[in-house]
Amino acid sequence: MGLKEQTIAVEPELIELRRYFHRHAERSWEEKQTQQKIKEYLDAEGIPYIEVCRTGVVATIKGPHSSKHTIGIRADMDALPVTEETGCDYASENPCVMHACGHDAHVAVLLATAKLLNEQKENLKVTVRLIFQPAEESIEDSGAYYMKTVSEVLECDRLIGLHIWGSLEAGYASLVEGPIMASADTFDIEIVGRGGHGAHPELAIDPIAAGVALCGEFQRIIAREIGGLEPAVISVTSFNAGTTSNVIPEKAHLSGTARAFSEDTRRQFPEAMERVAKGIAAATRTDISVDYHWGPPVTINDPEVTATGRKAANAVFGADHLITLPPQMGGEDFAKYTNRKAFLMLGGGNKDPKLRFNQHNPRFNIDESALKLGVEYFLRYIEEWEEEIDHELDPSGTFDKNI
Ligand code: NI
Repeated sequence: MGLKEQTIAVEPELIELRRYFHRHAERSWEEKQTQQKIKEYLDAEGIPYIEVCRTGVVATIKGPHSSKHTIGIRADMDALPVTEETGCDYASENPCVMHACGHDAHVAVLLATAKLLNEQKENLKVTVRLIFQPAEESIEDSGAYYMKTVSEVLECDRLIGLHIWGSLEAGYASLVEGPIMASADTFDIEIVGRGGHGAHPELAIDPIAAGVALCGEFQRIIAREIGGLEPAVISVTSFNAGTTSNVIPEKAHLSGTARAFSEDTRRQFPEAMERVAKGIAAATRTDISVDYHWGPPVTINDPEVTATGRKAANAVFGADHLITLPPQMGGEDFAKYTNRKAFLMLGGGNKDPKLRFNQHNPRFNIDESALKLGVEYFLRYIEEWEEEIDHELDPSGTFDKNI
């Protein structure tokens, strides 16, 4: 049976798995039931694994002919604090927790991949690590930050992964080398003034006025300190101060996110924000502290690892369905892994664009026909890589002929 037929045969189980994870959505670092289900499935298939980083799992598939060449395939496992509004019959049973980013699909695809690989491990020429990673959505304290140091992960020569993408129609995919997703840092800012009567601002020190000035100055950093061709975003996304209409509060708290597509630009942010905060503090007589949290760096697809993936993806999706998505300002903690790596965007959107909802929307759902394509991509990737390794060891192919 060819790869396509194998993935079609496994499709009903794959969809059932995805719906199970969807129904039992769990937040970052709380993926206990998800981990349990992964373990049960691997046990039933007779695939060895270890538990790592609290709720993570790393499984290994190795056949009698597997070399030391090792590839890791990573799936993130966590859901979001979103109340589901899809109305589907497998909606999340956990209140205010929903797989609104499609990580349920990632886990199901990796499990089905594991099953098919394990069934044919006699033919496997490399070693495969299946990396089930918790807490992708926690910006600083994210799963990859810990998983990247696990020795079974570190020894992978290559790391591949995918993200199901709601705005891209199922049947399409995008895999391009270079930067594909932004760095995604966050910040917290505390402004301390002096509370007082709203009628007498001259007797108080107003932290709100300071915060407003700060929001404006952050946009000046983007417009005046960073080149016009360089993507960069600073968004203040929460501004909390005060309780009533006639009291100037003592404090204001701001938080938000800073994003870039180059490490140089990214490194500019904390310095520029500190400098501006210091200036505004002096000008407004407030005390301002900026707490900058380093999130995932820019996601950069390695050229060689991507080239193998493009061969695989061409075979799975067809050249006319392997498109180039523009870079995304969203971040992805896959970027934290230090291995050479490539990340594919797997179209999962409904055929009707009106029924497509973006990632993190309460009505986000996927076209499940995309799942089997994800499995086929991983399987073909391994085949392509095995061929490349064979060719490297024996460029003329004479060794094969002699057998
Ligand atoms: Ni995601």
